[in-house]
Order: sequence, then structure tokens, then C-alpha cells
Amino acid sequence: MWVYLNDRFVPQEEAVVSVFDHGFLYGDGVYETLRAYRGRVFKLADHLARLERSASRIQLHLPAGPERLADLVRETLSRNLLQEAYLRITVSRGAGEIGLDPALCKAPTLVIIAKPFQPYPESIYAEGVAVILARTRRNLPEALPPQVKSLNFLNNILAKMEAKAAGAHEALMLNHRGDVTEGTTSNVFVVQEGRLRTPSVECGILDGITRELVLQLASELNIPSEEARLSIADLLRAEECFLTNTTQEVLPVTRVDGHVIGDGRPGVLTRRIHASFRACLERFLGDA
Ligand code: PDD
Repeated sequence: MWVYLNDRFVPQEEAVVSVFDHGFLYGDGVYETLRAYRGRVFKLADHLARLERSASRIQLHLPAGPERLADLVRETLSRNLLQEAYLRITVSRGAGEIGLDPALCKAPTLVIIAKPFQPYPESIYAEGVAVILARTRRNLPEALPPQVKSLNFLNNILAKMEAKAAGAHEALMLNHRGDVTEGTTSNVFVVQEGRLRTPSVECGILDGITRELVLQLASELNIPSEEARLSIADLLRAEECFLTNTTQEVLPVTRVDGHVIGDGRPGVLTRRIHASFRACLERFLGDA
């Protein structure tokens, strides 16, 4: 595999960064996960815009503008002859003397990785997944805003370890008020009385690109939707529940902490939304 590192493509074995990189030392940096279908990167501009927002919130100057980054992402894909791919753009503060001050780092480190996409088993879409409510709370927005997709992912990793220990697919985190926020790498939606509800950005979540698309698709399908505060009770008595993210798309949730959601099967609206996501994707791929 070829990896883009700073200013050139290098073989995977040579794609190494300094032990003095502040991304490694302090988790000081940002990233994006993207998905390519049939050789085309879905929602590339949105991911690059979010990368820029994350970077600017930590006063990190991206080493290349969106057009150049888009070209590099596409080139990483084509150089590796990939069609169905997972892509990751990482930008760290760069190498510098030990110390928290970002000014110690002269230039950011840019890494673009592509690898074959490993599809999730169809059964998780057909049957739905189990999630838990993590004991780990989501970062306080006033401490580390969840809208910054940062390399400092320990908050999510702690919750993910809880999910794994419980044999669950994902862990949902509550915020400091006890409201539902999001999963460790996903946003969450519920259906209540035929209405789609998802925690608002103000609850302390990453403004997911798939979440945004789902809200748009719901409006096109005339399904009422609302960005709101969601309580644990809202979640447990929901008719349907699903997760969204770039790699899993729209994934039905049928159990929360062992409690069955709806009739225990992926819901009707969940399936409709996923079908409409796929149709939107086909339109994108057809527009080549
Ligand atoms: N994660 N919330 C969190 C905390 C996330 O890390 C992600 C994405 C999402 C969903 O966002 P999107 O729809 O833009 O993928 C929500 C990616 C997949 C990752 O970390 O690899």
C-alpha cells in the first residue's frame, strides 16, 4: 500500500512519523474517516470542510487547501487500485520539542491512508445490533468540544472498551446532564410516534456527515424529524433506533442494555431511511 506522508507517497513500511510528533505525544491533531464506493469518495467536500472546522477550532493550520487535499485523497485511492475503500486523513501538530505549546512544532504532519473496505456482516443490518449505555460520559463541550474530531480519542475509547466487555456493538454516551449524546464512532437516532429524533449538536456530539444526510433524506421523504434532547427513557421506549456513520451507514439497534427496542426487529423507518441513503449513493455514483 502507498501512504501519503507530508509531501509524497511512500510505501506503507516507510510511512513513519517522529516520536516527537505532538499527535503521538499529546493527541494534538485532527482526523477524518471517509468511504469510497466504486472508486469514488462519498461526501468528500463535507469531510474536508469538517476537517477544516476541527483544525481551526484547535488553531491548527492545514498544510493544504481543500482542492489539493481532495486531489491527494483521490490519488491515494487510485495509487492503491482501490474501489471499495476506507480512507483516513490525519493532520497532527507535527514534530517539535516536548511541551504543550503548539508553537514548538514547525509544520503539521499530514497522513492519508487508504485500505480495502471490510464490509460489515449483512446479518447486523438484517437483525440489528445491541448497544449499551456507557458509564463513561461524553466530554463536556466546554472541555473538549465533541465537534472537534481530534486525535485525542480516549473518551470514546473508554466507552468502546465498555461495549466490548459487555459484548455490545456500540456504547452510547450520556452527557453531564444525563442526556443521550452519541456512540463512540456514531450518531444515534430514535423513532417516536413516527417522528425521527436525534440529539442536537448542543447536547455535545460530533456533527456527523451521515447524520446530516439522514436528516435531509427524512425531510425529502416527508418524515418529521427533530434535533432535541433525548433522555434514557426516550431511548428505551423508542419504536425504533439506529446508528449512523460513514462506514456503517444506517445500522438498526434492537437492544439497549438488554432492553428490547420496538418489536426487536429493525424498524420500518430505519429500513426506509437506509434504502434512501443507498439510492442517494447510487445517484452520486451515477453522476460521474
Ligand atoms: N467516526 N460521532 C463520533 C464520535 C464519530 O467519531 C463519528 C465518526 C460519528 C459519525 O460521523 P460521520 O457520519 O461523519 O462518519 C459520530 C468515524 C467513522 C471514525 O472515527 O472512524
